[in-house]
Amino acid sequence: MELMRREPQSSMAGGTGSRCPVLLLLLVSVAARVASGIVTDGLLPNGNFELGPVKSDLNGTRVMGENSIPNWEISGFVEYIGSGQTQDDMILPVPEGAYAVRLGNDATIRQKLSVTRKTTYSITFCAARTCAHAERLNVSVAAESGVLPIQTVYTSTGWDSYSYAFRARHSTAWLTIHNPGHEDDPACGPLIDSVAIKALNPPRLTKGNMLRNGDFEEGPFIFRDTAWGVLVPPMDEDDVSPLPGWTVMSDTKAVKYVDAAHHAVPRGARAVELVAGREAALVQEARGTVPGRRYRLSFSVGDAGNGCEGSMAVEAYAARETVRATYESRGNGSGSSKRAAVEFTAIANLTRVVFQSYNHHMKPDGTLCGSVVDVSLYFGRWGASG
Ligand SMILES: *[C@@H]1O[C@H](CO)[C@@H](O)[C@H](O)[C@H]1NC(C)=O
Ligand SMILES: *[C@@H]1O[C@H](CO)[C@@H](O)[C@H](O)[C@H]1NC(C)=O
Ligand SMILES: *[C@@H]1O[C@H](CO)[C@@H](O)[C@H](O)[C@H]1NC(C)=O
Ligand SMILES: *[C@@H]1O[C@H](CO)[C@@H](O)[C@H](O)[C@H]1NC(C)=O
Repeated sequence: MELMRREPQSSMAGGTGSRCPVLLLLLVSVAARVASGIVTDGLLPNGNFELGPVKSDLNGTRVMGENSIPNWEISGFVEYIGSGQTQDDMILPVPEGAYAVRLGNDATIRQKLSVTRKTTYSITFCAARTCAHAERLNVSVAAESGVLPIQTVYTSTGWDSYSYAFRARHSTAWLTIHNPGHEDDPACGPLIDSVAIKALNPPRLTKGNMLRNGDFEEGPFIFRDTAWGVLVPPMDEDDVSPLPGWTVMSDTKAVKYVDAAHHAVPRGARAVELVAGREAALVQEARGTVPGRRYRLSFSVGDAGNGCEGSMAVEAYAARETVRATYESRGNGSGSSKRAAVEFTAIANLTRVVFQSYNHHMKPDGTLCGSVVDVSLYFGRWGASG
């Protein structure tokens, strides 16, 4: 209103007057973006549940109102848990801040996200099992859902970070985390904390490398203050992967996405730790191989520097060839990583490349661990010369 009334007065200073609408438009579009609140990489609004219900919305720990937790909607038996709270003889620790939520039988928490259409996003959140056998969490965004197995615990604290990914079809999407379990004790569901998001860049081919995201530089959000990496759970081949280019194949086991801030990684800033022996495989279908031509799949294996000691072996398969790369891990990242390669003749347009840890390994604290890998696949012109 103010601007409109002033407009005639500015006819003398035509330049200034004509810039105003532009400025106004700019302000409007910035305001629209801020108002629409398109998610940015990092914690979701109140993603760590530090903002809780008012006292009158709690019965003991149970959250009574659908909208009692700021930024979230809940349904079913949801509890608001403070750090150090006990249950039977067990202390319930909270990984970040002072609060977390627990999802009882069939309970759900959800948040509406403003996203950019056609963008792929990864979600990272922390979850811990409590007294019971709550073995799965159902994460869904819009019409897509994935059931993440959580029965295997990969950290000594009991808290693991899980990842999930989706491609935005619209400019808003409901992210839902649901406990499909039905325990006798409704208070035996999993705890949830620290829900974050990250936009994923499409997997890119780097020069000469026929594998997409072979160095794993693109992947789900890793919390700066968590030293245990992020699990990439098993998925179907047509699911959106939080690790672009790659699929994790397993019944219930995961691979672990780790960063150089907390682990020794062979190359770049990120890598994958094969924590589940032969129970999980890291798979990519390399496109554009030419039947009859020679290729070389090369990779680095190493010691993550996280206390995982022993004789390790990683197996790689491509077309009809297999190689087993072995090395001795001291668990302190001291041995530099080792390079290995397998040469093969392509038998199809697509070549399936698979990585697996040959054995199960355990850290002194009893948690599963394994080798870290970074990989590449080269078209083998060298094949002609040697
Ligand atoms: C609070 O929970 C107790 C035990 O489950 C129940 O008996 C009581 O009715 C609840 N109070 C309210 C106000 O819902
Ligand atoms: C998971 O959640 C989605 C959406 O809420 C639902 O359609 C699907 O049936 C659920 N799956 C299980 C196993 O509960
Ligand atoms: C790692 O462990 C080995 C053998 O225990 C030891 O010789 C080496 O000094 C350690 N390196 C570091 C960086 O701690
Ligand atoms: C290879 O790809 C071409 C075109 O992309 C297709 O026509 C052909 O059927 C494929 N061959 C095999 C063996 O998959």
